[in-house]
Amino acid sequence: MTASLGVAVIGAGMAGKAHAAAYRAASTLYKPTLPQIRLVSIADINVELGGEAAARYGFERHDADWRALVDDPSIDVVSVVVANFLHREIVEALLAAGKHVLCEKPLSDTIEDARAMADAARAADAKGTLARIGYSYLRAPGIAFIRKLIDDGRLGEMLHFSGRYWTDYGCRPDAPMSWRYQGPAGSGALGDVGSHLSYIAEHLCGDVQEVSGGRFHTSIAERPKPLGAVVGHTRGNVSDELAPVENDDYATFNARFARCVGTLEVSRVAAGHPNDLVLEIFGSKGAARWSQTNPGQVEVMLHDEQGDLAGYRTVPLGPAHPHYAGGWAMDAPGVGIGQNDLFVHQARAFLEEVAGIPEAESLPRCKSFDDGVHNMEFLAAVAASAAQRGATVTVKED
Ligand SMILES: NC(=O)c1ccc[n+]([C@@H]2O[C@H](COP(=O)([O-])OP(=O)(O)OC[C@H]3O[C@@H](n4cnc5c(N)ncnc54)[C@H](O)[C@@H]3O)[C@@H](O)[C@H]2O)c1
Repeated sequence: MTASLGVAVIGAGMAGKAHAAAYRAASTLYKPTLPQIRLVSIADINVELGGEAAARYGFERHDADWRALVDDPSIDVVSVVVANFLHREIVEALLAAGKHVLCEKPLSDTIEDARAMADAARAADAKGTLARIGYSYLRAPGIAFIRKLIDDGRLGEMLHFSGRYWTDYGCRPDAPMSWRYQGPAGSGALGDVGSHLSYIAEHLCGDVQEVSGGRFHTSIAERPKPLGAVVGHTRGNVSDELAPVENDDYATFNARFARCVGTLEVSRVAAGHPNDLVLEIFGSKGAARWSQTNPGQVEVMLHDEQGDLAGYRTVPLGPAHPHYAGGWAMDAPGVGIGQNDLFVHQARAFLEEVAGIPEAESLPRCKSFDDGVHNMEFLAAVAASAAQRGATVTVKED
C-alpha cells in the first residue's frame, strides 16, 4: 500500500466544505487502516472562500485555478464539488493526469456530458485510475437499515413507495440567481435534490423500469441578479435586474421499479422545509419510514405485533444498525448522525478503494460513473414524461 495519499478539493462552497471536512476526519473512523492522508489544496476561483476553507480544514494551501492541481505530483485524489456544468472539463483533465476523482452528483447537467465522462472513466480505470460519484445518502444508517429490513423479508413483499425531497432555498422571490436556476428542463429541483431521491428509491425498490406522470413547474420565473458571489443556498445583496429561471422549481412523477411502484416529489420552493427528505415504504408484512429531519431514528410498523399495539414504533439507531459499530468515536445508541457525517463515510470509502484495501475490509464502495449516467437517464425519462404531458417513458425493458 502507498505510504500516503495527497488530497485536494475543487470548490469551497456548501458541499466542497463538507468534502474538505470529511477528508480531514476520514482516518478517525474504524480501525487505522488508511495510509497517511495529506490535505494538500482547496481550489476555488473565489480566493477568499478557498483560503478560508483551506485554513479552516487544515489544507496546506489554496489555489485560484483548479488547473494547478492537474500536474501537481503531490496530489493523488481530488473531489470535484463545483456547479454541475463545470464537472466534465475538470473531471476529464484530472483523469487524464492520473488523479483519482470523486465527483459530486449529478454527474453533469446534460446526459451527453455525463456519457462522455463515463467514457473517460472507463479509459482511466484501465490505467488504474478511479472515478467515482458521491451518493452521500447511501451512507445514511436509517436508509441502510430499511434496505436491510427489505432484504431480510421483514417487511414482506413491497407494495409501494413514497418519497419526497422538499427544500425551500428558492422559496423567496429575492433569492439570487445562481447556477442552480440555469440549465435544461430537469436540471433544477429534479437534478439538484431529485438526483438523491431517485438513487435512494432504486436502492430500496430495485431498478427503475418506467416513469409516468412527469410534471415540472417553475413557480418563480425570474430572479434578481446577485451583487457578489452566491454560495450554496445563501441569500445576499441583489440588483434590481432580473434574469429568467430556466429550469424546474418543482417536479413530480410516478415510477415502476423492479420491486414496487412509487410516487416521488421534489421542490426547492417548499417554504418551511429547508432540507426535508422523507421516505416511506409499504410491504405485505409492515412498513418503514425515515426522515432527514430525524436521521438518527427509523419508524417501523409490523403486522405481527399484538393487535391492540399495532402501529409505528420508533427505533433509535445505534450499533445494532448499519455503519455505526466501531466507526464513530461515540457509537452508542441514540447519539445521532447527521448529513455532514455521511460525507466522512463517503470519503473514507473512496480513500479505502484508492489505497487498495480489499472490498471485504472496507465500507461499501462508492458508485461508478456508469451508475451516475444511469441516474441521469432516470431523470431524463422524467423530463421526457413531463415534455409529453405525463406520458409513460420506458427506462429499462423487462
Ligand atoms: N451530496 C450532497 O448532499 C450535495 C449537497 C450540495 C451540493 N452537492 C453538489 O455539489 C456540487 C457543488 O454544489 P455547492 O452547493 O457546493 O455549490 P456552491 O455554489 O455552493 O459552490 C461552488 C463553488 O465553486 C466555486 N467555483 C465556481 N467556478 C469555479 C471554477 N472554475 N474553479 C473552481 N471553483 C469554482 C465557487 O466559487 C463556489 O465556491 C454540485 O454538483 C451539487 O449538486 C451535493
